[in-house]
Amino acid sequence: MSDSTTSSTYAEAHRLSITDPDAFWLEAAGAVDWITPPTTAVDGSRPPFYRWFPDGRLNTSYNCLDRHVEEGRGDQAAFIYDSAVTGATETITYSQLLEQVEAFAGALTAEGVGHGDRVVIYMPMVPRAAVAMLACARIGAVHSVVFGGFAAPELAIRIDDARPKVVVTSPGGIEPTRKVPYFPMVAKALGLTRHTPGAVIVAGRPDQFPDESFPETPGTTWTDWDEAVAGSDPAGPVPVAATDPLYILYTSGTTGLPKGVVRDNGGHAVALTWSMWNVYGIRPGEVWWTASDVGWVVGHSYIVYGPLLVGATSIIYEGKPVGTPDAGAFWRVIAEHGATALFTAPTAVRAIRKEDPEGREIARYDLSTMRTLFCAGERLDPDTHRWATENLGTPVVDNWWQTETGWPIASNLRGLEPMPIKAGSPTVPVPGYDLRVLDSGGTELPAGEEGNLAIRLPMAPGTLSGLWDDDERFISSYMSVFDGYYSTGDGGYIDSDGYVYVMGRTDDVINVAGHRLSTGSMEAVIATHPAVAEAAVIGVKDELKGQRPVGYVVLKSGEVRDPEELRAELVAMVREEIGAVATFRDCTVVQGLPKTRSGKILRKTMRQIADGQEDVTVPSTIEDPAVLDALTPLLRQSD
Ligand code: COA
Ligand code: AMP
Repeated sequence: MSDSTTSSTYAEAHRLSITDPDAFWLEAAGAVDWITPPTTAVDGSRPPFYRWFPDGRLNTSYNCLDRHVEEGRGDQAAFIYDSAVTGATETITYSQLLEQVEAFAGALTAEGVGHGDRVVIYMPMVPRAAVAMLACARIGAVHSVVFGGFAAPELAIRIDDARPKVVVTSPGGIEPTRKVPYFPMVAKALGLTRHTPGAVIVAGRPDQFPDESFPETPGTTWTDWDEAVAGSDPAGPVPVAATDPLYILYTSGTTGLPKGVVRDNGGHAVALTWSMWNVYGIRPGEVWWTASDVGWVVGHSYIVYGPLLVGATSIIYEGKPVGTPDAGAFWRVIAEHGATALFTAPTAVRAIRKEDPEGREIARYDLSTMRTLFCAGERLDPDTHRWATENLGTPVVDNWWQTETGWPIASNLRGLEPMPIKAGSPTVPVPGYDLRVLDSGGTELPAGEEGNLAIRLPMAPGTLSGLWDDDERFISSYMSVFDGYYSTGDGGYIDSDGYVYVMGRTDDVINVAGHRLSTGSMEAVIATHPAVAEAAVIGVKDELKGQRPVGYVVLKSGEVRDPEELRAELVAMVREEIGAVATFRDCTVVQGLPKTRSGKILRKTMRQIADGQEDVTVPSTIEDPAVLDALTPLLRQSD
């Protein structure tokens, strides 16, 4: 297969993608195998609901699997599974993967899952997580993967919103210090939901969890994966409309309720294929490694779909950058499997650097196959950028994107036209994204001035087609802030060379170790404690994880609590309700929280003080400046 784009420079490609999206994206669509090729790129008749390739029909799993087998790649590795926590490695060829996906698609069909039905996947980083995703794609079902670090109530919220027919899970995941059993989480979640899925299918791990027995959950049967497959016929690829949903992926918003980002089939296949060739410069047959988790968007796009769409080999890594067993883990994987590129979060690089500042582990391995280190998930700070560049000797490329966009908004296009790298910048807007910097009134700002990063509509193909079952929230969250634009929720600027700088969220979403979390959902949990009158959780700078959540609570009048005991109770509650991934550990009792006269807590001001910012803007609408004065020394301590 080949890339069908004929633009030879970045500038030409970007200009054409904006001035003539039909021409540009129909050409790009030529790299995908269609059942009915599209004749139109984008249908903009119902803004802000844009539909990509509205008359095209395809099957995403066919494009990821059958097509490559037919083209002679059957014996090539599709996945290399490398588990640093169990020591297992396994190579799955394209033919084998196709067979597994057909078989599991058949099992889902036998459970009554069909076109448009939802399947929730709650799995650790094992190949069957990807098999389950591709099996859904094969039969036109819509998967929704829930990250294993989320606790039962978060799983329940997602089950109730997506209303799946089937939940696919595993006996558990393996963290460096402990095994994480999933059955109690799934059983507890099913006890909390209003919706009852018909079946839970379990991908067993007998070597790690030999004695797990299925729990009893009223109305839901539990079946072993192998048994489900044995009792059903393999399923072929079902033609779906390009505009049909491929998946829902929940992500944190500013409120406690996550947003169900909906991805289509056609725009997604075209955009990811284009990005593998032009952004990441990866060709069929090359080994590519994204060290993330299938529970996050990076895992969806660049562990599973992107590499398979172009016939590359994708490494599925179960482990951490450090501690499994040491800071050389990533370099071992690259050397052992011949990866040409690694895609990870800056936090992972910082964690490695902390343990191995001299890069001694790097020197122990043969990394000659590695061409590029890609980073995303949070800003790649210049210091980390410098360390990685110096120690790896390869370009280190930041790329900025979000669950909502599904692929980079800004990057250095290594395949199309590599550009000089400026530390601290993810380089330039990717073709398809007409990125602007706006002030709060929606006026465009000149080069160098910081404001709100917004994308003129329509956005590129592959970006969210909506929020699951909630058009109103789609509009109010993203489309109504600036007329005619998608509001990214990120602030930043574009310099006079056109380089983008992303400086952080403008809302109450925080980013902890590359994981997007909502301070609002943590506040909601804390507020249920009987002694707590009100609470604010803010994200403060953290050297390793980028940010970490810190809580400030006001007790109900007359309540007297031991601060340490209360902290431990609140930490346990957040862990129980949201999950270990929230990493909520710091909480302080305060006399009051600074608010505006209309009662809004001044979280941004608190965050600025906590981060040690010099020019803190205190809104003139502050109700009682003395409350903020009293809190300031405590906030400063959290830095
Ligand atoms: N299932 C269950 N629990 C999980 C989990 C999962 N899939 N992932 C994380 N957790 C738990 C951890 O065990 C930890 O629990 P603890 O409080 O009992 O120790 C907690 O959630 C926080 O985990 P983590 O954020 O991984 O922190 P850490 O201190 O264990 O490790 C790093 C620090 C930097 C090594 C780690 O955060 C990391 O690898 N970051 C890169 C993240 C990444 O790739 N993000 C993808 C976005 S692109
Ligand atoms: P998520 O939806 O989990 O991918 O998180 C998206 C958010 O992470 C963005 O809105 C940014 O705030 C942040 N982010 C991701 N990648 C980058 C990057 N390269 N530079 C700066 N911020 C980033």
